[in-house]
Amino acid sequence: MDELDRLRSATADLDAPFALVDLDAFEANAADMTRRAGGTPIRVASKSVRCRALLADVLGRDGFRGVLAFTLPEALWLAGQGFRDLVVAYPTVDRRALRALAADPEAAAQITIMVDDVAHLDLVDRVCGDPAGRPEVRVCLDIDASWRPLGGRLRIGARRSPVHAPSEAAALARAIVARPGFRLVGLMAYEAQIAGVGDAGGAGAGARLRSLAIRGMQTGSGRELAGRRRAVVDAVRAVADLEFVNGGGTGSLERTARESAVTEVAAGSGLYGPALFDTYRAFTPRPAALFALPVVRRAGDGSATALGGGYPASGPAGPDRLPSPHLPAGLRLDRLEGAGEAQTPLLGTAAEHLRVGDVVFFRHAKAGELCERFNELHLVRGDRVVDTVPTYRGEGQAFL
Ligand SMILES: Cc1ncc(COP(=O)(O)O)c(C=O)c1O
Repeated sequence: MDELDRLRSATADLDAPFALVDLDAFEANAADMTRRAGGTPIRVASKSVRCRALLADVLGRDGFRGVLAFTLPEALWLAGQGFRDLVVAYPTVDRRALRALAADPEAAAQITIMVDDVAHLDLVDRVCGDPAGRPEVRVCLDIDASWRPLGGRLRIGARRSPVHAPSEAAALARAIVARPGFRLVGLMAYEAQIAGVGDAGGAGAGARLRSLAIRGMQTGSGRELAGRRRAVVDAVRAVADLEFVNGGGTGSLERTARESAVTEVAAGSGLYGPALFDTYRAFTPRPAALFALPVVRRAGDGSATALGGGYPASGPAGPDRLPSPHLPAGLRLDRLEGAGEAQTPLLGTAAEHLRVGDVVFFRHAKAGELCERFNELHLVRGDRVVDTVPTYRGEGQAFL
């Protein structure tokens, strides 16, 4: 049985649109990620999974430890469901959630919030009141991992933390340690320009040149970051006992895990294997998370039209952020219509063979965002649906 027949047979009783996770692919991806991390524990990036059952599944596997959450309300919700060791990856200014954290010693012991500015500490004090009257707030210091070659005239990487140099990190660490009511427990530096940018290129001279430029950039940036990360960790460890130093993402697991200053890596997208992760030389995730749309009509010109499908991914808008038809093979989007809100025309030789009522499987460009479109994930093993689990959205939880 080929892949298309297998998936169609497994989901024959379901009415599309629906989303599924192919467990064999998901498990193979998890195993490959731990292999690439080479023994360094992986903190699972929950924004790239957005399904409580699958997060719990991953955390039950060797090689995964702790959650990299994306908002404080999410971390509080997960803590209430029994998840432990949650680091919120982005600064929070959510007053209600901060008050809830300060009022719940058990949650406060499990959740670490992200800071890169004393303004973050000031806000916690303003919202949560007297530091003596609340549990210690665990904080992680976010370090800028961007590369600033040419004497700092160029900045390559995401605009995140303002804390770049070891001296800046040590100064902020001292400010945190001097403040009652906070405990500095971790450091994080996420190298988006390496972990989130594929280096494999594609067909054509332009794509080959681009991929060569990306490889050069990533080698230079990786070298600079390894040295600076070590210096930052040494400078901050002189001020505070750190429980963890987090770095990396799906695209950089082997490179980041090799750095001795790093105690854990973060990753999530590799589990679902979305289309943007097809462009890395070091690994090839299997497409595990898919969504299915029904063919509802044919326009009479050889195209087939599927219902819905307009689920673009976040980031700089462009064709690579659109979903891609996966199976049957040989389908493509119409450049003029893309993936539409109510309907998505499909072109290509395979479109001519599609009939009304057929199901087409798509991949999302990114990982967890797919779960904001569906209430459930059907878990497929072989040619059977073995379980159906709610997404965050299906549990009424929309965090971002
Ligand atoms: C702080 C941080 N760490 C790690 C990651 C990597 O996540 P993923 O493996 O899903 O690409 C991200 C993704 O944006 C991130 O923001």
